[in-house]
Amino acid sequence: MSTGKRDTARRERMTVESLARLKAAGEPVVMVTAYDYPSAQIADEVGVDVVLVGDSAANVVLGYDSTVPVTVEEMLVLTRAVRRGLQRPLLVADLPFGSYEASDETAVRTAQRFVKEAGADAVKIERGGTSVDRARAIVQAGVPVMGHVGLTPQAAVRHGGYKVQGRTAAQAEQLLRDALALQSAGCFAIVLEAVPAAVTELLTPTLDCVTIGIGAGASVDGQVLVWHDLLGLTAGPVARFVRKFADLRSDAVAGLAAYAGAVRQREFPAPEHTYRIDSEELAVLRERLANADARSAVDGVG
Ligand code: KIV
Repeated sequence: MSTGKRDTARRERMTVESLARLKAAGEPVVMVTAYDYPSAQIADEVGVDVVLVGDSAANVVLGYDSTVPVTVEEMLVLTRAVRRGLQRPLLVADLPFGSYEASDETAVRTAQRFVKEAGADAVKIERGGTSVDRARAIVQAGVPVMGHVGLTPQAAVRHGGYKVQGRTAAQAEQLLRDALALQSAGCFAIVLEAVPAAVTELLTPTLDCVTIGIGAGASVDGQVLVWHDLLGLTAGPVARFVRKFADLRSDAVAGLAAYAGAVRQREFPAPEHTYRIDSEELAVLRERLANADARSAVDGVG
């Protein structure tokens, strides 16, 4: 693709179709999670293609110990905030655990809430199996769906923790079957998480929809990382597939410690952080307060 054409593709408001065009042109798709207004603004400014309000918010924003407890209402609040900060990227919202699995009707109703009430362009659901039918129902109801296979955190308990998936031939075949079924159900894109790179290499040529990897190697159409991981905001160890592109946590700790020190030493606020009052007004105020003091002293004697 010529630079001119690529620049045009990068500026247009992203749609499911423009993502497919990036894939056709062999242009890597840049996807990132975001959970609030300023992060969305930054993602937009940088020219990210897809922003996911991931249910990883449960861990990185809300402090739950898994993605399971996060509710639709919590995810709607975050999605609305991200919507307000985004212009160009495609906005995908994760449907949280328990909000889409029970029936096609439940899945469609939840997906439509994210579109109508929070301005999402698309939704993401996890796993193959029954999620294939849910994906089909949501797509037929007019909402684009992104699938998610491999390590699916909502099912981490069933997987025995956060483990690499597709390490046996049988597992890898099942992964491909799930991905193909999601694609046939109408998913415009599929996230592959924590899959050996060699397996991804074998699977992706058989998929026509956009493939997005996280810990799945380089032979996918695009990559996604969690905001807090890639910017170094996560405390403690991160997954092997994360590269820290910044160290914002250290910056935040240093900045906050400097603020606390300055307050304790009465070095902040300095004169340049304070507001002024006209000196004549100040003189009048002083006089009034002095007269008031004198009056109350006399009243007190009386
Ligand atoms: O919730 C999330 O952040 C995700 C990404 C890791 C793909 O599902």
